Amino acid sequence: MTFLITAGPTREPIDPVRYISNRSSGKMGYAIAEAALDAGHEVILISGPVNLAPPRNAKFISVSTSDEMSDAVHQHANSSDICVLCAAVADYKAAKVSPVKIKKSANGISIQLVPTRDILQSLGRQSTRKFLLVGFAAETDYLEANAVKKLRAKNCDIIVANDARSGMESDENELLILFRDGEMKKISRAPKKFLASELVKIFLNSRENRLTKNV
Ligand code: CTP
Repeated sequence: MTFLITAGPTREPIDPVRYISNRSSGKMGYAIAEAALDAGHEVILISGPVNLAPPRNAKFISVSTSDEMSDAVHQHANSSDICVLCAAVADYKAAKVSPVKIKKSANGISIQLVPTRDILQSLGRQSTRKFLLVGFAAETDYLEANAVKKLRAKNCDIIVANDARSGMESDENELLILFRDGEMKKISRAPKKFLASELVKIFLNSRENRLTKNV
């Protein structure tokens, strides 16, 4: 099987020295990549800027902006069996990137933001897709309800949900896994390495079921 995995944050430039980003460490995505490799699968890891060494044996694609991540994902998704979109893609980018450093102003400034491309949603809209599509949801409240909404809105097969406060930057996490058919699984707090190998088994199993049901 070939896994396509996105990981880490994206950086959306404002001017040559500033950007919008978030606190994603990339640890969960990298751990899933390692677990899939350990289980003998091929991995394409598309990563935003993080402080982690790329796993040996993965095809590694380094990106910075959401547009670069989107292009790389679309280039490789259809030759993959399981797409796991773990990256914390910035939801907004500057409407205009200043070519020169913006000078300080005593009056404060406003930056107009526009939505970035939603990579997960665009893959979910591909009616002929053959790959299993997995999204992540980091929420601070109403975890289950928000995750169910995301699963439907983005038309994924699986959503892996976690509390945004306890997962980001940490080596541990606890997960709620929601499936398209309404099934739900909980994995209580554990190291990301353990969670990753459980997730890889769950994804392979779902991919198998999807094939046998031919949906
Ligand atoms: N995602 C993506 N492209 C984006 C934004 C998000 O592919 N531009 C993916 C993430 O990789 C993750 C999932 O969508 O798998 C959930 O992202 P999230 O930001 O939590 O969802 P949103 O739709 O932005 O909802 P909200 O921020 O309102 O919770």
